[in-house]
Amino acid sequence: MCGIVGGIGNADFRSYILGGLKKLDYRGYDSAGIAYRLNGKINLIKTQGTVEKLDALVPDFQGADIAIGHTRWATHGVPNEINAHPQVSMNALIHIVHNGVIENFRALKTKLRSRGYTFRTQTDTEVIADLLEYHYIQNGKKDFIKAIENTMDELEGSYATAIILDKEERLYFMKKASPLLIGVSEQGHFLASDCVPMMHLTDKFVDLDDMEYGYMTKSELHLFKNHRQIPPKFVKRDVDDFRYDISGYEHFMLKEIEEAPYVLRRLADNYCVDGEYTFNPDMLESIRKADEVVFIACGTSYYASLFGVEFLNYMGKRATAYIASEWAYRPQRFSKKPLYIFLSQSGETADIVACQKIVNAEGLKNIAITNSKGSTLDRKATYGCLIYAGLEVGVAATKTYMAQVGFLSLLLGALTGSHSAVTHLDALIDAVRDIIERKEAIHELAKEVIKAPSLFYIGRGSDYNAALECALKLKEISYIHAEAYPGGELKHGPIALIEKDTPVIGLISSPAIALQLRNNIEELKARGAKTFIVCNASLSNGTDAFLTKEIKPYLAPLTKVVFGQYFSYYVAYEKGLPIDKPRNLAKAVTVE
Ligand code: M6R
Repeated sequence: MCGIVGGIGNADFRSYILGGLKKLDYRGYDSAGIAYRLNGKINLIKTQGTVEKLDALVPDFQGADIAIGHTRWATHGVPNEINAHPQVSMNALIHIVHNGVIENFRALKTKLRSRGYTFRTQTDTEVIADLLEYHYIQNGKKDFIKAIENTMDELEGSYATAIILDKEERLYFMKKASPLLIGVSEQGHFLASDCVPMMHLTDKFVDLDDMEYGYMTKSELHLFKNHRQIPPKFVKRDVDDFRYDISGYEHFMLKEIEEAPYVLRRLADNYCVDGEYTFNPDMLESIRKADEVVFIACGTSYYASLFGVEFLNYMGKRATAYIASEWAYRPQRFSKKPLYIFLSQSGETADIVACQKIVNAEGLKNIAITNSKGSTLDRKATYGCLIYAGLEVGVAATKTYMAQVGFLSLLLGALTGSHSAVTHLDALIDAVRDIIERKEAIHELAKEVIKAPSLFYIGRGSDYNAALECALKLKEISYIHAEAYPGGELKHGPIALIEKDTPVIGLISSPAIALQLRNNIEELKARGAKTFIVCNASLSNGTDAFLTKEIKPYLAPLTKVVFGQYFSYYVAYEKGLPIDKPRNLAKAVTVE
C-alpha cells in the first residue's frame, strides 16, 4: 500500500514528484524515493522515513525528461533504504515504483533464481523489475510491451506501476487492482495513484482499468489491454474538490474536525433541494425491495455503518453490518434479495473492493457511498453516492465519519418520506459548533489521561456505536489502548481490568439509557476508576465532565463522537505525537 507518481515531458519534475508524494503520503509514509533521468543518466535517491526527509536529500535538478517517485507503506520487507522504491532490476535496465502486493513473489523468486537472478532486497517489487528485464532480454531487447505482457501473465496479486526503461524516451505502466490515473497536459503525460498530485497540471485524466498497460511519451499515450491497443477514455476532474490547504491550523485533523458543520451543510444541500430529496429513485426502490440490506466496511466506516443498520431497522428493514476483511473470506447470505452497501471514505480500501468483486460477480445490486468520485468502489457500484466531505488529509477519519452518518440519516429521511431529516441535521450542525467553541474544556480533560496506559469508553444503545469510534480514535492517534463496551457488559469480565485511576468515559445521549449508564459508571467508580461522563445537557445531574446540546436521540451520539475526536487529538497533542500521520498507518488501506 503505497503512493506512486511519475511523468514524462518538460515539467518541473522536482516539485511535481516531491509535491505529489507529499499529497500521496496518506497512502503510507515509512520510506520514500525518486528516480529521474538528467542528461541521459538515471539518478536514484531513496530514504527510510517521510517524503520531507527525501526532499532534504534531493538536489535541485532542472531539465530532467522523465521521473518517478514513491511513498511506501511496507508490506514485504522492513521499511529501510534498500527496500524503498524505486526498485532496480538486477542489470539496472529497469527502475520501477509499485503500489500493490505480488502474492506469488516467492514462487517467482525461485523461478528467477533458476534463470540466474539474485536478489538485493526483501520486497516483492524487485521480482517485477527482474521479470520485466528477463523477458525484455529474452526478446532481444526489441519489444518492451511484449515483456510487460509476459510479466503480467506471471504475476498474481495487485499492482500499479510506473517503469523507466534504460535509455528509452517512454514511461511505461501496468495496472491490476491498485488505482492508477494518467493526466494529460501540454507539458507532457503524468501518472499517479490519485489525481491530486496532477491537479495543478491538468483536469484531463484517464482512469486506468484492471489489466491495462502501455506507455506514454511527452505527447502520446498508448494504451493496451489483452494484447490489443485500445483508445483511452478521458474524464474530467474538478480542481475545487481537491483543496489541500491547512489554513493556519496546526494539524489537518483539527481542521477537519472543525469542518464538520460545513460538510454536513453541504451534504444536506446536495441531497435535499427545495425540500425534495435528490437520491436516485431507482436506488431508493432497490433498498425498499431488498429483503435485507448488508453493510460492508472497515474501521471508522464500519462504525458509521452501524448507524445505517439502526436507521434501517428503525423503519422495519432487516439490515446487518460486516467487517469487510471477514466477509470477503466467509460471505454470509441469509436472504434472497440482498442489497449491499459499501461504505468507504477512500473508495479504495482493498478489503471492501474484494467484497464488491464477489457481489458484482454474482450480479447483485450494490451501493458505494464514498468520498471519492471515480474511486474503484464508486466506479464498480450499481449506484455510486458521494458524501461531499472534501479531501481528508489526516489519517484519522473525522469529518468523513460525520458525513457518512449524516448521509445515512438523509437516506432514512428519503426512504421514510420524512422531511425533518434536514432540520435534525441542522440541529446537529448547531450542536457541533457549540462543541467547537468549548473545545478547550476537552483539552483540559485530555490532560488528565495522558499518562494512562489504557482507557474505557462505555455507552448503551447508539452510544455504544459512538464509543467504538471514540476508542478507535484514541488508539490510532494517541497510542493509548482504548476499549469500547456496552455499559452493562463490563461486569461480565472486563471489569477485572479496572484498577485505581483507570479512566472510563461514559456517553449518554438518550433518556432511555441515562439511569442505567450512570449505574454502570458508579460500579466502576466503586472499583477505583476515574470516571468522566459526556452527556446531553438536559440529562445532566450537575456533575458531568462535558455537556452537549440537546438534539434528536438518533443523531445525539454524533456529538459524543466529536467530543471523542477532540479528546484523542488533545491527548496526542499533549504527548507530542505525529497526529496527522500516526505510526504504522496509512489513510487508504489498499492491501488486503
Ligand atoms: O477509506 P475507508 O473508509 O474504506 O477506510 C476504512 C478504514 O481504513 C479507516 O476508517 C480507518 O479505520 C481510519 N484510519 C480511522 O480513522
